[in-house]
Amino acid sequence: MEKMPYRPELDTAMQTIQQPQATVVSTDWRTGLPLMSGKRVTLRDLRISDAASLFAMLTTEEVARFISPPPSTVEGFERFIAWTVRQRASGTYACYAVTLHGFDTAIGIFQVRETEPGFTTAEWGFAIGSPFWGTGVFEESANLVLEFVFDTIGVHRLEARAAVVNGRGNGALIKIGAVNEGVLRKSFLRNGKYLDQVLYSVVEDDWRARREQAAPAHALVH
Ligand SMILES: CC(C)(COP(=O)(O)OP(=O)(O)OC[C@H]1O[C@@H](n2cnc3c(N)ncnc32)[C@H](O)[C@@H]1OP(=O)(O)O)[C@@H](O)C(=O)NCCC(=O)NCCS
Repeated sequence: MEKMPYRPELDTAMQTIQQPQATVVSTDWRTGLPLMSGKRVTLRDLRISDAASLFAMLTTEEVARFISPPPSTVEGFERFIAWTVRQRASGTYACYAVTLHGFDTAIGIFQVRETEPGFTTAEWGFAIGSPFWGTGVFEESANLVLEFVFDTIGVHRLEARAAVVNGRGNGALIKIGAVNEGVLRKSFLRNGKYLDQVLYSVVEDDWRARREQAAPAHALVH
């Protein structure tokens, strides 16, 4: 989630928090993200009511230390979620909540933003609560998000940046097929220190070839 665009200090639009309308099932992701289900996870639109669980899951030191600082309060997460809804409606950004089957609690997020007008190139970032690390939740969720990114949005090239010192972040990206394209030196300011980042990409053709080889373990629910 390095360098994802939300900046709480610039977000003055949300003086009153409004609950987004009930989940919209639509083929246009800008009006409501398609619900996606795997063997264990369901990915859905964020709701304002996710703020408390996301605050608990994503503000721990181990989760937050190599990513852009998450909001520091539950109210800050409420403003962030409201911002994600506005950005999605503008067609430049999407943010999925990760939940487990049978539980509505958001345990993590996947963000995708366009890096040039038209959303043909994009960047993604993700964070999952540490109790769920190493459980397969990341990989299953990531594969669903990749399907959304390439099949629904129409992205051609998807980038990610991971701080070199972020072992799990790098390992996670490599295992889902992202390609290391090199190091961006001193590119990420965190806790007063500039960190080197690895630039990763997944390009559409590679992703389609990889998907052909893998048995489809998921399905889109409309
Ligand atoms: C990034 C994140 C979502 C990945 O989820 P996860 O459940 O930890 O990921 P997984 O366990 O499925 O995969 C991580 C891989 O990295 C490997 N790994 C762990 N520590 C590592 C290290 N120090 N160096 C290299 N690889 C490492 C793991 O062994 C695993 O690979 P394996 O399953 O083949 O053994 C999660 O760790 C997270 O939320 N981290 C904090 C937020 C963050 O850093 N996000 C930005 C990522 S760029």
